[in-house]
Amino acid sequence: MSQERSDTLVLFGATGDLAHKKIFPALYAMVAKGTLNEPVIGVAFDPWDLAKLQARARDGIVNAIGSIDEKIFARLASLLRYVSGDYRASATFEKLKTALGSAERPLHYLAVPPAMFEVVVQGLEQSGAAQGARLMVEKPFGHDLQSARWLNRVLHLVFDEKSIFRIDHYLGKEAIQNLLYFRFANSFLEPIWNRNYVESVQITMAEDFGVEGRGRFYDEVGCIRDVIENHLLNILLLLAMEPPVGRSADDLIDEKVQVLRAIRTLTRDDVVRGQFDGYLNEPGVAPNSPVETFAAVRFFVDTWRWQDVPFFIRAGKSLPVHATEVIVRLKRPPLDVFDPIKPGECNHVRFRIDPQVAISIGARRKAPGDDMVGEQVELTALDDSKGDMPPYERLIGDAMNGNGQLFTRQDASELAWRIVGPVLGDTTPPPVYAPKTWGPAEAMAGFGPPNGWINPAK
Ligand code: BG6
Repeated sequence: MSQERSDTLVLFGATGDLAHKKIFPALYAMVAKGTLNEPVIGVAFDPWDLAKLQARARDGIVNAIGSIDEKIFARLASLLRYVSGDYRASATFEKLKTALGSAERPLHYLAVPPAMFEVVVQGLEQSGAAQGARLMVEKPFGHDLQSARWLNRVLHLVFDEKSIFRIDHYLGKEAIQNLLYFRFANSFLEPIWNRNYVESVQITMAEDFGVEGRGRFYDEVGCIRDVIENHLLNILLLLAMEPPVGRSADDLIDEKVQVLRAIRTLTRDDVVRGQFDGYLNEPGVAPNSPVETFAAVRFFVDTWRWQDVPFFIRAGKSLPVHATEVIVRLKRPPLDVFDPIKPGECNHVRFRIDPQVAISIGARRKAPGDDMVGEQVELTALDDSKGDMPPYERLIGDAMNGNGQLFTRQDASELAWRIVGPVLGDTTPPPVYAPKTWGPAEAMAGFGPPNGWINPAK
């Protein structure tokens, strides 16, 4: 596959929720910037016409952005086409082939449930629409190691690995890119970024809302599969990886894969699960569902750099705030020369990922006054994140350009499932926690980084 830009975007699942909420707003932003000029063919089962798809796109854009510039929308609308039909019917793909016209390098974006990946990929092959094409697939990519391997086999029958773009939208976030940049564009971190200085790492992704009408989807997935196995594990990789030897997609992904290979496979002792009170009443959720809406997980990375440093990840729905944050906590000084330093205080690096983007260095300084006593302060570089490129815009653009750097490679996807495999599918009912609390307090007692969790502020 050459690095030539794709000449058409084909969006499977064009009438779905993801297209409405994220993809059309991203396409609109691309058109506004002049970075999307190619035809966009929506494909879906619904017997709609083009006007209805355009109206749906408009609605999604207005919801996401709050307003619409008619000239820009008219340009996007003029790029849209619509093919309706059953993904199992060859006639659908024949219609698609006709709509593709003389396109030579389409990007097929599968914003459909993974159960449909196989039929769509086969339809693409049989109709000839896979010829010269790239494939972008949405998460979840499988639900365990076996299903991920099977999916990879199915995709590889038609597309080679270089033409496959597995999305983890977290990797498209500005703050995540900054994490990588900050680590490897500065020299002051390197001497301390290891087991000699780092006491622990904690990553918290807190959401102050429930499953928001996605009960059916969520109940098949749960917190570990939904955000830990992918988004948050990817953050861990960026924190733990060695510097890449070059800037190519493979250079970067190779280093992530080295970390994945070194992460210990989890056992049930590495996990505390919880379920928020009220989850069982959500539409689509099975009666007595044992699915977790909260999980705290301990990882170890068995390398020279990280041996014995615990990496904790905690995520959940219906927590007190909506925020994602990383704390890399350094060991305390060997001796209290002045006042006693409380455990857990002293130096840390805080990466705020959401909703604001910030990097802070936590340190002690002398509190004003006669005595040599200190206080905790943070030096913060804050970016209000207004104007940041949203992940879907970045990722669709990258896939159109054949740039795989921010996508998950086959080996990485399978290794991630290997790590979490033994803690998936736990059918024991998880302890219940009250909404707007930090998970099941009793079960969490004593489980966490040495010197405790730091709860992100609003
Ligand atoms: C999705 C999960 O992948 O990520 C959701 O399915 C979660 O449950 C979402 O809410 C969080 O992403 P963001 O970018 O909205 O913070």
